[in-house]
Formats: sequence, C-alpha cells, structure tokens
Amino acid sequence: MIELIGVHKSFGEQQVLRGVDLTVAEGTTCVLLGVSGSGKTVLMKHIDGLLRPDAGKVCVDGETLNQLSAREMEAVRRKLGILFQAGALFDSLTVFDNVAFPLRERAHLPEEEVARQVRHTLALVGLQGAESLYPGELSGGMQKRVAFSRAVVLQPRVLLYDDPTAGLDPLTTESVIDVIVTGKKRVGATSFIVTPDVSMAFHVGDRLAFLHEGRIVEHSPPEEFRQCRHPAVKAFLQDWLQREALRHPRGDTRLPP
Ligand SMILES: Nc1ncnc2c1ncn2[C@@H]1O[C@H](COP(=O)(O)OP(=O)(O)O)[C@@H](O)[C@H]1O
Ligand SMILES: [Mg+2]
Repeated sequence: MIELIGVHKSFGEQQVLRGVDLTVAEGTTCVLLGVSGSGKTVLMKHIDGLLRPDAGKVCVDGETLNQLSAREMEAVRRKLGILFQAGALFDSLTVFDNVAFPLRERAHLPEEEVARQVRHTLALVGLQGAESLYPGELSGGMQKRVAFSRAVVLQPRVLLYDDPTAGLDPLTTESVIDVIVTGKKRVGATSFIVTPDVSMAFHVGDRLAFLHEGRIVEHSPPEEFRQCRHPAVKAFLQDWLQREALRHPRGDTRLPP
C-alpha cells in the first residue's frame, strides 16, 4: 500500500534521507521510530506528497507520486486520512460540523447522507452523544477522537499519524492508542504512525521501523525488533528503558509484550 524505494532528500547541505526503502502492506500498521531530528516527519511528508524526493520513488496504493500533477496528487491525498500532532479542530463548529466538514467540502453529498455518515463515524469512537458540543467543552481525549473521526469520515485507505500523543497526559495517551487500535480495526485502513513513544509503538505496531542516518536500518515485527542488534536501535531502546525507570522508580520496567 505504501512503498518507498531509495528515497533521498536534502535541505541545502543537510542530507536527511539517504536512500530510504520501506514497504507497508495493505491493512497493516507500521510504526516509525527514530531519535528526534532523524527525519521521521520528513519521511512522512513524502507519503502524503507534501515533499518530493530528490531521488527515488514513493508509491501509495499503486500510484507513483513523483510524476503526479497537482490535480492527480489531490486525488491520491483523498485516500489518505492525515492526523498531525495538533489534530486541530474548528473551535467555532460543533463536533457534528467538524466531522461533516470534509464530507461537505469534498464529497458533495445530500445533507441526510452527510448526517448518516457523521453519526456512523462518531459511533466508531464512542462519541454518539457529543454531536452538538463544541471542542472547548470536550476533554483532550474526546477532542482526539473527534479529530480521528474527521480524518476517517471519507473512508481513507491509508491513515497517517505524526506524533499523535505529543504533549498528552497518560490517560489521554491511552485513549488515543485505543482510538488507533479499535478505529483502525473498524475502518480496516493501512496505518503509518510516527512516534517517539516506544511503549505505544509496541502496542499498536504490526511492524516497527527505525530511521537512522537517513536509512531504515531495521523493520520487523515487535518481537523481533526488541531483539534487534543494530547499535542505534539498541541504544534507542536502552535509553527509553532508562527514562521509563526514572519516571516509575519503583515500577517494573520492561519492554511491553
Ligand atoms: N522544510 C525544511 N527545510 C529545511 N530543513 C528541514 C525542513 N524540514 C525538516 N528539516 C530538517 O530535517 C531534519 C529532520 O527533521 P524532522 O523530519 O522533523 O525530524 P523528526 O521528525 O525525526 O524529529 C531536521 O534537522 C530539520 O531541521
Ligand atoms: Mg517529527
């Protein structure tokens, strides 16, 4: 569903991607890990077409993005549900109108059909009672669920998340993870998630990929990933374990199953 082949990208003198090869199979969830500044967001922006590679190929659902015109790119982007860090909602619109927004903007459906699809999508994330509330009246976790609904209401084949739990408290983080897992199961989309959160990566990923010095140096299922011998991956996991131990001094810190 997503394929990057030999993708290179530089900004001036700085080579951020130096030959990225990565394949994400249809219906699976791939989590991309890597230290801050390693180029994870840059990589993701190649999948949603916001950046074009200097060299190499990016394919999404059988389309090679490199050669597409702006109009063709727009058609591909319609297949994507994109949830960035903020997942910003429109504060002046109700939950219903936030989720209806992409349908009204892009799908040109009769209003009854809009209402049917909005209700269906909100029900997926357990928000059927919240339609007439405004974002300011919702908890952080509920806002995230509304943002998820808005991203999936057009039934995207691919869901992209960049750091979906950034700046959230542990409880809200849990509910975002829950949304990603249950929402994905019900929508059946292929998911690509960038996160620095190792525990979430092990929770939601069918495969984990690690970006280091501009290349994917490991890409494997969680149980293999945790055994990975690459020094950068080992150091990254070790560092995470140490930080977890500091956060929960008495806790029993292990990599999650
Ligand atoms: N549009 C841009 N112009 C110049 N440099 C950029 C641009 N986008 C990202 N970079 C640089 O690319 C590197 C990787 O950034 P990023 O992908 O955001 O890292 P990560 O998401 O892994 O933390 C950083 O050094 C960043 O400054
Ligand atoms: Mg980033």
